[in-house]
Amino acid sequence: MTPTLRIAVLGAGTVGAEVMRLLAEQREDLEHRIGAPYRVTGVAVRDLTRERGAHIPRELLTDDAKSLVADADIVVEVMGGIEPAGTLLLKAIASGASVVTANKALLAQQGAKLYEAADKNGVDIYYEAAVAGAIPLVRPIRESLAGDSVKRVLGIVNGTTNYILDAMSSTGQSFSQALAKAQELGYAEADPTADVDGLDAAAKAAILGSLAFHTRVSMADVTAEGIREISSADIRAAERMGRVVKLLSIAERLENGVSARVYPVMLRKNHPLASVGGAYNAVFVEAEAAGSLMFYGQGAGGAPTASAVLGDLVTAARNRVVSGHGPRESRYADLAIVPLSELHSRFYVSLQVHDRPGVLAAVASVLSENGISVATVHQEPLPGADGDEYAALEAVTHLASESAMQEALAQLANSESVARVLSVLRVEGE
Ligand code: NAP
Ligand code: HSE
Repeated sequence: MTPTLRIAVLGAGTVGAEVMRLLAEQREDLEHRIGAPYRVTGVAVRDLTRERGAHIPRELLTDDAKSLVADADIVVEVMGGIEPAGTLLLKAIASGASVVTANKALLAQQGAKLYEAADKNGVDIYYEAAVAGAIPLVRPIRESLAGDSVKRVLGIVNGTTNYILDAMSSTGQSFSQALAKAQELGYAEADPTADVDGLDAAAKAAILGSLAFHTRVSMADVTAEGIREISSADIRAAERMGRVVKLLSIAERLENGVSARVYPVMLRKNHPLASVGGAYNAVFVEAEAAGSLMFYGQGAGGAPTASAVLGDLVTAARNRVVSGHGPRESRYADLAIVPLSELHSRFYVSLQVHDRPGVLAAVASVLSENGISVATVHQEPLPGADGDEYAALEAVTHLASESAMQEALAQLANSESVARVLSVLRVEGE
C-alpha cells in the first residue's frame, strides 16, 4: 500500500484558494495520476478568523507555518513575498519536503539558495506558476528544449501592464485612467509598483534567462524600465507608425554572454506579440534547431495559476512515489551578464523643440556626433504654455549603441534648441 502523501499549503489567497478547490474537486483523478492518495495537512494564513469557503475547512487553517512545513512531503508556497516565504521553504527542504512555488520575486532574488538546498537534500523544487501563470513555459524550456540551444526568450509576461497599454491604445485612456480601471477589474494591486515599474516582469526575465542559458541570472542582473512614463502621445505616435507599445521581457544569448532586460517597446502591428490584448501573456522562444515557438495564454488569476501549481504538484508527488527526482538547477554555462550599455537598439526619440531655424540641424548634429543614424523624422506643432512656438520632433533611429544614445540624450537635454526630452522608446521586431 502506497503511503499517503502529506501536502502543506502556505497561503489561501487568490491562488491558494483555487489550489485547494482543485485538490478537493479533482482528488480522484489527481490520485490516479500521482499513484498515491494525498492529504492536506494544513493551510497557513495570517488571519485565522476569515471564512475561506467550503474547500478550506477551518480546522486546516494555521498561523504556525513553521511547524506545518516541518512535517510534509510536499510544500506548496502561494503566500508570496520574500520573508517568511524564503525561510519557510528552506526549512521545508531541510526537513526533506519537495517544494512547489509560484513566487517569482523570491526565486529571482534568492533562487540560488533554494536550488542549492534542494540539491543538497535530494528534493525537488518546481515553479511553473512563477512565470506567465497558466502557460507551460518553465517545463518546455527546462525539459523539452534541453537538447536544443535557446537563443532568445522574448515576451509579454505581465498581464497588468499589457492590459493598461492595450486600454490606452484602444480607448485613448491616459496611463492613470487605464491603471485605475485595471485596479477596479482586479488586475492591478492597490500598490501597482511591481507591475508598472517592470519589476514583476524583471523577476520573470531572470527566471527565464537562468533556465534558457544554464546560467544564474538574478533580479539584480536585469535592467528594468516600466510603463509609468508612457504617454497618450507615445501611443498615438506608435499608431501613426503602424506600431503598438508593449512591455517586453527579453532574455538573450549574445556572443559575450547573456542579457536580460525589460522595457516598453514600439512593436510593428504585424508582429505576433502586437496582437496580444488585455491581460494575456505571450512568449516567443527562439532556439537554434526548433526555430521560433510561441506560447500564449492567461498569465495570472487564481484558477489559471493554480493549474500550473497543480501540474507541478502532481509531478513532484509522482517523483516521490517512485523515489525519483526532477531536473536540478542547470548552471554549467556560467555565462557573463552583458550590461544594457553594451547593447544596440533602434530608438524612437520625441523632443519638445523650439520651432525656429536651425533646430532640426542642431538635433541631427548631436545624433550624428554620437554615431547615431536617423531613419525617419516627423514633426508637428506643439502648443506651448508660455506663448513661445514649439514643435514635437520625433525621430526613429537605425541601430544605435545604448551608451551613445544615453550620451546624445544628455546633450540634447542641455541643448538650447530642445525644451524637453519628451520620451525615448526602443523599437523592436523589425
Ligand atoms: P494573495 O491573494 O495575497 O494571498 C496570499 C496568501 O498568503 C493569503 O492567504 C495570506 O494570508 C497568506 N500569507 C501571506 N503572508 C503570510 C504569512 N506571513 N504567514 C502566513 N500566511 C501568509 O496572493 P496571491 O495572488 O494568491 O499570490 C500568491 C503567490 O502567487 C505570489 O507569490 C504571487 O506572485 C504568485 N502568483 C500570483 C498570481 C496571481 O494571479 N494572483 C499569478 C502568478 C503567480 P491571509 O489570507 O490571512 O492574508
Ligand atoms: N501581477 C502579475 C501580472 C501576475 O499582472 O501579470 C502575477 O505574475
